[in-house]
Amino acid sequence: MKDLFSLQGRVALVTGGSRGIGRMIATGFLQQGARVYITARKAAQCEATAAELSALGGCIALPADVSTVEGARKLAAEIAQREPALDILVNNAGAAWGEEFDTFPEAGWDKVVDLNMKTPFFLTQALHEPLKRAAKSRPAKVINIASIDGISVNSWETYSYAASKAGLIHLTRRMALRLAQDNIVVSGIAPGPFPSDMNKEARDHGDAVAHRVPAGRVGNAEDMAGAAIYLASRAGDYVVGETIVVDGGVTIARGN
Ligand SMILES: NC(=O)c1ccc[n+]([C@@H]2O[C@H](COP(=O)([O-])OP(=O)(O)OC[C@H]3O[C@@H](n4cnc5c(N)ncnc54)[C@H](OP(=O)(O)O)[C@@H]3O)[C@@H](O)[C@H]2O)c1
Repeated sequence: MKDLFSLQGRVALVTGGSRGIGRMIATGFLQQGARVYITARKAAQCEATAAELSALGGCIALPADVSTVEGARKLAAEIAQREPALDILVNNAGAAWGEEFDTFPEAGWDKVVDLNMKTPFFLTQALHEPLKRAAKSRPAKVINIASIDGISVNSWETYSYAASKAGLIHLTRRMALRLAQDNIVVSGIAPGPFPSDMNKEARDHGDAVAHRVPAGRVGNAEDMAGAAIYLASRAGDYVVGETIVVDGGVTIARGN
């Protein structure tokens, strides 16, 4: 039991680890003993976060834009230069776009679908070899950060976001089936409201949002770290292709 949730000796990569949910996950992984690489486009913020989190353990910034296949492959090459194997990949970097139906533009599909749905596929593909090497000693992990908006419908006009997250949840299942052959376990987390730059409502008006959450509050860093550590550690080895809802009950309250 003592080691069930340990990440001692594991190497992890968290995309979008510079802030928000990615930072919450990176913090939890460090506290459980992992060495953690974080990536984001804004180099200064990425490096500042890595410097702060280094107080908890080895945290290394690798600034990158992972929204293109080329960017994903370049990041994978940098990881391969530094590490013989990668135990845990968290595909967390994401984007949203809200606009009303009649004017919703193509750019709002390309940006969101590329990063939220295409990148988790191509980054995992680019890191397949180091994940397989880690999987020789114990299951390697790929954790996709989806959203409850891919499960039930909210009132915002975020068409491409909702579709990309529903797609990611299904992609998680499909990839899990293939990668189980290589002892790589793919799973996901569907967060509800967590304070972040993306979810400014939960960040700046947490009390108002809390009224719509059966648990009576927005999510916090421990809620997110707990779910991610569960999936990443020995404790989650048998959770294959599943996306865990971490939302304080919002999905059941929406009832759709
Ligand atoms: N917060 C919520 O309530 C909530 C709920 C459900 C699901 N989620 C999901 O959780 C994930 C994280 O969201 P968040 O709320 O933490 O958002 P956030 O605060 O906006 O953070 C997004 C992170 O991704 C990075 N990023 C964005 N585009 C990137 C790119 N092209 N290449 C590399 N990194 C990139 C950002 O850094 P740079 O800008 O410097 O690149 C940042 O580190 C997303 O997938 C989101 O859909 C969030």
